[in-house]
Amino acid sequence: MKEKLEALLQGALVELSTVSTEETLHELRVKYLGKKGLLTSVMKGLGSLSPEERPVAGQMANVVKVQLEERLEGILQDIRERDKEQKLRNERLDVTLPGRRRPVGTKHPVSLVIEEISEIFAGLGFKVAEGPEIEMDYYNFEALNIPKDHPARDMQDTFFVSESVVLRTHTSPVQIRTMLKQPPPVRIIAPGTVYRCDSDATHSPMFHQIEGLLVDKGITFGDLKGILTIFLNQYFGSGTGVRLRPSFFPFTEPSAEVDIACVMCKGKGCRICKNTGWLEILGAGMVDPEVYRHVSYDSETFTGFAFGMGIERIAMLRYGISDMRLLFENDLRFLSQF
Ligand code: FA5
Ligand code: MG
Repeated sequence: MKEKLEALLQGALVELSTVSTEETLHELRVKYLGKKGLLTSVMKGLGSLSPEERPVAGQMANVVKVQLEERLEGILQDIRERDKEQKLRNERLDVTLPGRRRPVGTKHPVSLVIEEISEIFAGLGFKVAEGPEIEMDYYNFEALNIPKDHPARDMQDTFFVSESVVLRTHTSPVQIRTMLKQPPPVRIIAPGTVYRCDSDATHSPMFHQIEGLLVDKGITFGDLKGILTIFLNQYFGSGTGVRLRPSFFPFTEPSAEVDIACVMCKGKGCRICKNTGWLEILGAGMVDPEVYRHVSYDSETFTGFAFGMGIERIAMLRYGISDMRLLFENDLRFLSQF
């Protein structure tokens, strides 16, 4: 019995010396101390011993059991300690590492121009109005004094959705929609996307305009020139030369095209302004009484002016962009410069 117990203890200690995981440790605990384990089976022999030998052997078995239990517990603690340290080592964070930066987008130059211009006009008391891009022929043309089959329709190449529905060719239909919704006085600007069947270095089939409309008692052409001069001087810098040339739009009378002194050569003449020293920037004029008739405004009491400018042209001048198509190619090397 004594030899058997000693052999069992030695065998167990040898096996335990190579244990490195909790699983194998558990397997050995079952093998030696389990209900069907080796120690139990040795102790089954106690019954066949003489009454004198039995307590001695029993005590010995107990000592072996306690020794084994202590050893198992010691190894378990070592394994757990080791695993914990490894885990801490693996999960260590270097809080001094710089964060990973996500690339942040920039505003598109067309959006920048719209925002800046809207802000200047907000300062002059203009509210922002909007209208749909898919528009009734009536608002885009008829109510603006451009009847069907009138030659003025050829001024703009129109995308038709159906006979009575178009992609709006300008932001001027917002004038009509606004005046139908409210009585005068009116003081709005309307930035938005417009469409024309048109494409080259200075024309895009989809582009943007900002419309302006001011209607009140006693508004004159002088007010139009004054407001536009204030705006252009704020936007392009004070002292920017402004020139009005007679022009024609069916919905304004009289009409003008407005030029600014070339921002590249300051009026001396260069490639951009085709040596004229001037750049066309917008169309404008006094609202035609025929337009007031369509919105039931009293043209004897109220007068006003309207203007419309191309955003892309302004963006090109403001940021020195030579080809309008760059604005729509979405090349990040271009867009990230703004
Ligand atoms: C108009 O669209 C008028 N509705 C402007 C207006 C409003 C006049 C209110 C009077 C009163 P026009 O077709 O000239 O006018 O266009 C105005 C501006 O839009 C042009 O000066 C130009 O800057 C811009 N534009 C015209 N066609 C294109 C195009 N295909 N691509 C980019 N910009 C364009
Ligand atoms: Mg024009």
